[in-house]
Amino acid sequence: IHMGTTRKLSMGNNGKLNGFEAKTPFLIGVSGGTASGKSTVCKRIMEKLGQVDKDHTERQVVCISQDSFYRDLTPSEKIKAEKGQFNFDHPDAFDNDLILQTLQDILAGKKCEIPVYDYKTNSIIPNQTTIIYPADVVLFEGILVFYFSNIRDLFHMKLFVDTDSETRLERRVPRDIKERGRDLDYVLNQYMNFVKPAFEEFCLPTKKFADVIIPRGADNTVAIDLIVQHIRDILSNHGRNVIEAESPMSRLDEAI
Ligand code: CTP
Repeated sequence: IHMGTTRKLSMGNNGKLNGFEAKTPFLIGVSGGTASGKSTVCKRIMEKLGQVDKDHTERQVVCISQDSFYRDLTPSEKIKAEKGQFNFDHPDAFDNDLILQTLQDILAGKKCEIPVYDYKTNSIIPNQTTIIYPADVVLFEGILVFYFSNIRDLFHMKLFVDTDSETRLERRVPRDIKERGRDLDYVLNQYMNFVKPAFEEFCLPTKKFADVIIPRGADNTVAIDLIVQHIRDILSNHGRNVIEAESPMSRLDEAI
């Protein structure tokens, strides 16, 4: 069992365990095409768990977006991006090493700092980070979170938000114009040249890795309720799992 186990990390030079304890959070990957409703599904999950009113430091459930991990572009890539000629839907557009490191830190129960991304300038905002405090459940959402096996293998549960492409395009166009500072021509060209082909080549083939496929996205309250019930079961079993998992470790401690 992955979640709720108490691990004693950080082996000292003398071979003794330093007694550092960390809980392993239950890590959920949420993927799906652009504007499929991934963030809304995550928001609904958090709302139903009563998380949104809590202070960030007290949340049992946190949500992180893969978009926070877009890598900084070279000067020539920046020029391309301004003209809508950079492929933001390719797996190489992300800092995948940082994603892996961050998720590993999260699994180790560590507090993390993640970058803040600005779609208007296609770049990371300097000197600004978001702090992610240890939580019981961590949701990680993005178009390509199941693409690389080393990242994919870290998730305890994988969800795929399956919204038809017409609905996604219908949502994406006004969103990019209003929230991401683009014009109609830019959005449609980027969609036809990069977003659609990359979805078919890189994102859609990862649907087969999902444990649960959510048709229609955030409208699907039945699917969301089932998932939330599962998370509640995990949270309420948390303490019990810790105690159960502790005994073999305690015995190991004694042997050392
Ligand atoms: N993107 C962009 N310009 C950037 C960086 C990313 O246009 N500088 C676009 C990419 O083309 C990619 C999309 O952002 O298709 C990824 O975000 P998306 O999945 O659409 O947003 P979420 O809010 O995470 O998804 P959802 O709408 O499903 O909640």
